[in-house]
Amino acid sequence: MSRLIRFERTGGPEVLQWVEADLAPPAAGEAQLRHHAVGLNYIDTYHRSGLYPVPLPSGIGLEAAGVVEAVGEGVTDLQPGDRVAYAGGPLGAYAERRNIPADRLVRLPDALSFEQGAAMMLQGLTAQYLLRRTYRVQPGDTILIHAAAGGVGLIVCQWAKALGATVIGTVGSDEKAELARQHGCDHAIVYTRENVSGRVRELTGGEGVAVVYDSIGKDTFMDSLACLRPLGMMVTFGNASGPVAPFDPGLLGKMGSLFLTRPSLFAYSALRDDLLMMAEELFSVVLSGQVRLSINQRFPLQDAATAHRELEARRTTGSTVLVPSS
Ligand SMILES: NC(=O)c1ccc[n+]([C@@H]2O[C@H](COP(=O)([O-])OP(=O)(O)OC[C@H]3O[C@@H](n4cnc5c(N)ncnc54)[C@H](OP(=O)(O)O)[C@@H]3O)[C@@H](O)[C@H]2O)c1
Repeated sequence: MSRLIRFERTGGPEVLQWVEADLAPPAAGEAQLRHHAVGLNYIDTYHRSGLYPVPLPSGIGLEAAGVVEAVGEGVTDLQPGDRVAYAGGPLGAYAERRNIPADRLVRLPDALSFEQGAAMMLQGLTAQYLLRRTYRVQPGDTILIHAAAGGVGLIVCQWAKALGATVIGTVGSDEKAELARQHGCDHAIVYTRENVSGRVRELTGGEGVAVVYDSIGKDTFMDSLACLRPLGMMVTFGNASGPVAPFDPGLLGKMGSLFLTRPSLFAYSALRDDLLMMAEELFSVVLSGQVRLSINQRFPLQDAATAHRELEARRTTGSTVLVPSS
């Protein structure tokens, strides 16, 4: 048996139910895990609300850290007792125990706790591909990251700073601005009261930034384009305010031959070799102290609905973990 969060219909946080269900032995190629910490991510709210449709009823959650309890046929590189972490499907990380394809697991270094593993995999691997692959940040670049005090945001600020970039971040309050500054953000713009593209032009002497990492979507997309230097890269990677409306690609030409991409962690980490390379880089910046993880909220796993309410109300900062009771 396992206890887990499931939802039978899409909607607000109230659709999340705490249930008990049978857990089959791991199938061929799978490992059975006991979770010690589960990561909360904004994408979980898109699955719950129906913005990203999934077949129902469904489990929820894409990230956790724990211990291998059993392995299915053909799994040779893991054994019971191994400490592991993951970020990716199938949905179902909000569970005390689960089965998952073994080739999606990475070993968690002994120096990292389960909570760190659960807080860092999805947001940290995202930071890795954004900064190192989608647009490879160079020393001297000026970059713009939205929601700079959030889970992805605080990791991106620190990592970009370590790469030698000047970091401009947007945040929803003065408290979040201070937090972002403590994590490598050189200039924090409170976008609820300041004009972002105007401030970015001021801060860059009129030039604009090399890249915008925009996870807010609907509310910020057009102004983000206006922050870019000619040939700059617009990376729209999330929809915290809602999905971006269809737009005319001719605008990219008029605004300076801009590049536009809409990346997803799951495409970047689909090949196992890529996943391992990305995890190795992430573990290395965390273990070296270049990136400090900020686990600023913890909730019992069965209170996942409360965690969703806090996240969507913009009351969280940094990363959040859900903790199973057993
Ligand atoms: N494509 C990918 O591969 C990928 C992977 C991971 C995450 N993401 C995306 O990256 C974003 C950040 O994820 P996260 O888990 O680290 O979350 P998060 O940044 O910790 O939380 C979301 C933040 O977005 C900001 N926000 C702005 N407008 C908002 C609105 N209307 N409603 C709610 N929040 C709003 C809030 O910060 P302020 O109050 O400071 O504005 C809020 O704290 C999400 O959009 C997520 O979908 C994408």
